[in-house]
Amino acid sequence: MTLEDSLNSELAELAAAGLTRRRRVLDSPAGRIATVDGRPVLNFASNDYLGLAGNAEIARALADGALQWGAGSGASHLVSGHLTPHDLLEKEIAAFTGFERALTFSTGYLANIAVTPTFAGRGDAVFADKLNHASLIDAMQLAKANGADVQRYPHNDVAALERQLATSSATRKVIVTDAVYSMDGDLAPLPAIHALAERYDAWLVIDDAHGFGVLGQHGRGSLSHFNLPASRRILLMGTLGKAAGVGGAFVAGSATAIEYLLQKGRSYIFTTAAPPAIACALSKSLQIVRDGDARRANLMARIAQLRDGLAGGPLLPSTTAIQPYVVGDNEAAVALSNTLWEHGLWVPAIRPPTVPKGTARLRISLSAAHTATDVERLVSTLKALA
Ligand SMILES: Cc1ncc(COP(=O)(O)O)c(C=O)c1O
Repeated sequence: MTLEDSLNSELAELAAAGLTRRRRVLDSPAGRIATVDGRPVLNFASNDYLGLAGNAEIARALADGALQWGAGSGASHLVSGHLTPHDLLEKEIAAFTGFERALTFSTGYLANIAVTPTFAGRGDAVFADKLNHASLIDAMQLAKANGADVQRYPHNDVAALERQLATSSATRKVIVTDAVYSMDGDLAPLPAIHALAERYDAWLVIDDAHGFGVLGQHGRGSLSHFNLPASRRILLMGTLGKAAGVGGAFVAGSATAIEYLLQKGRSYIFTTAAPPAIACALSKSLQIVRDGDARRANLMARIAQLRDGLAGGPLLPSTTAIQPYVVGDNEAAVALSNTLWEHGLWVPAIRPPTVPKGTARLRISLSAAHTATDVERLVSTLKALA
């Protein structure tokens, strides 16, 4: 038995279950059309909802930022790695989201694993939706390791959440939810959840990775979509590698909550700050997001077009850029994805454990960069293959 035998046998099990994941290498920027192995494919596989990943103005801001501020930040934020572009970006994000203060992180994963375990430890309780993103689940596990009581409620089941809150005697209660579910595209009932947070005096952690830039007034996100205020009990996480087209994330909240996170959030403190040029690119991106009503209008038109075109089919009821086309069987989902690929359409198959067993699906991601002709091509190909 060699050191690697047990790894190889687990890899073989994954393969036998049709669950091996493969990466495709793009030899073009990640745009509406991606080139893979020299062949252009229409890209319905990215979270670049506003078509900004390849935006030239943002790329120029990144390049200019690197020339002015150098390639690296040199240290973590609290040591010596917090530069003027980082500080400016925090203020811009706070102003845009309407919260008193914001902190930026290198990724959404790091932001999420900072928040929940910082706010919930021994004597506290976390209440989390069953379909929360993997990064929120890992955050919850960290809180559990710190001694927090952790409870999960069935997806979007506000009554179950209320029962859990009502019977909890925890010192600090922390509700954790995605705003837009990454694999189903549906929205959390944020007004009802916020009302419960008020009633039971809980913190409310909202992951708006897929709503920020897309939903609400000028792309302010899911809170704005629901006309919810920037309440003092909310900690809003947004990612900056999806609609904003660059990379990174933020957490926004009251000045006190953000100061607490800065002092105690381990994945904020113990990691090198992102390169300052990323912050320069994000400042430019934020302007484009804010001025991007035309992009959002096009995105909404493409969502409506896809749903009309595939009405009566296996699309889950989503109003967002994430449109799940449920196939069921793992191999069938992969086979359909592969056939679309042969037709020049890139639509990834998503299988368990990312989604529940028996619900393997195509995750169709729409973008403001898609044209009506692009969506028509996808709709007619899927119909022909159905
Ligand atoms: C809902 C959600 N939260 C958090 C993340 C993590 O963000 P990041 O990719 O910036 O690490 C993702 C996806 O990547 C996501 O879909």
